[in-house]
Amino acid sequence: MVVEEEKTAALDIQKILQNLGHTVTSIALSGEEALKELARLEKLKNLKSLDGDKPDLVLIDTDLLDKGEGIEVAHKIRTLFDIPVVYLIDSTDETTLELARATEPFGYILKPFEEKEFLTTIEMASHKHTIDRKLIESHEQLRNLSLHLQSVREGESTRIARVVHDELAHLLTALKMDLSWLYKRLPKGQKPLLDQTKSMSKLTDMIIKSVQRISLELRPVILDDLGLVPAIEWQAQEFEGRTNIKCEITIDCGDNNLDQDRSTALFRIFQEALTNVARHANATKIKVSLKERPDKLLLKIEDNGRGITEEQISDPKSFGLFGMRERVYPWGGEVEIKGLSNKGTTVTVILPATLNHD
Ligand SMILES: Nc1ncnc2c1ncn2[C@@H]1O[C@H](COP(=O)(O)OP(=O)(O)OP(=O)(O)O)[C@@H](O)[C@H]1O
Ligand SMILES: [Mg+2]
Repeated sequence: MVVEEEKTAALDIQKILQNLGHTVTSIALSGEEALKELARLEKLKNLKSLDGDKPDLVLIDTDLLDKGEGIEVAHKIRTLFDIPVVYLIDSTDETTLELARATEPFGYILKPFEEKEFLTTIEMASHKHTIDRKLIESHEQLRNLSLHLQSVREGESTRIARVVHDELAHLLTALKMDLSWLYKRLPKGQKPLLDQTKSMSKLTDMIIKSVQRISLELRPVILDDLGLVPAIEWQAQEFEGRTNIKCEITIDCGDNNLDQDRSTALFRIFQEALTNVARHANATKIKVSLKERPDKLLLKIEDNGRGITEEQISDPKSFGLFGMRERVYPWGGEVEIKGLSNKGTTVTVILPATLNHD
């Protein structure tokens, strides 16, 4: 598609392109006309009509009606229709170039036009567009793979936690009862046997505790049985007992109607934030709040430790932080992390509510 105010210039360009073996699908004499035509094609495409083929490339004059107007239109074409744009540029003044650069064009062709320049610029632009597409696709694939692996892992943890909790703990309790039965029936004079049975019973107690801990670490049953709020309260209490870091909780949210996937995502983020506080913050206190707003659910974890730095937040090796963000990505959620030196770190999770009941 060519977007050019002067019809004769547009026709010249069409001729050059045809000589080079390209087809000009349409000529638009204004930005408005171009956007209208692209919207029409997009609509047809969505209706799966064969006439809905969008152009592979748009060549656009930077100065349409007004100076620089083409740049604005080009930006819309890129964002709304995902079509690469090459600028036809009249002047090389810095402001125009600067504005044009900001829209990340696929190339520039300076007036007066030369056939050679068209050939190379168009080749480069379509090559760059293909690479961009592939990059986006592979990024999307990796993201999906990571989500898939995470959900497989979560499923496994849930299954093992259930087996450990329900079966192992059950069997061990039966063993403990058998030992107590034995202890009561052993002759009173057999002290070594009595002592040994007692010690076996104590050992069984320890194994039961350890099995319960392993099951909880894998996945707390409370999350599946009672939901997010009790699970967060339980985890905070457990954290306080284990680390001696005071945990203050505010819950301002109605009946928990989050589905299992969303609850799991928020709970795992909460756990990662707590682990980070224990490992890195050197904090003495944390404040946790879970708030429900008409349009979103907010989970905030605020510590009074040394404060995370900007470098740590944006470090590509910060996989824990990266994982938090990825957890809420499927629902358009966000995780904001802020640190203030020697004041503390705040992690805020925003989960849009509009998608809560889909
Ligand atoms: N609450 C916090 N206070 C201070 N620094 C923090 C806090 N949370 C994270 N950090 C810093 O940010 C870095 C990145 O955190 P992240 O959770 O991504 O990785 P990690 O905890 O080091 O390793 P893991 O992959 O096991 O989570 C940490 O190494 C730490 O330096
Ligand atoms: Mg971490």
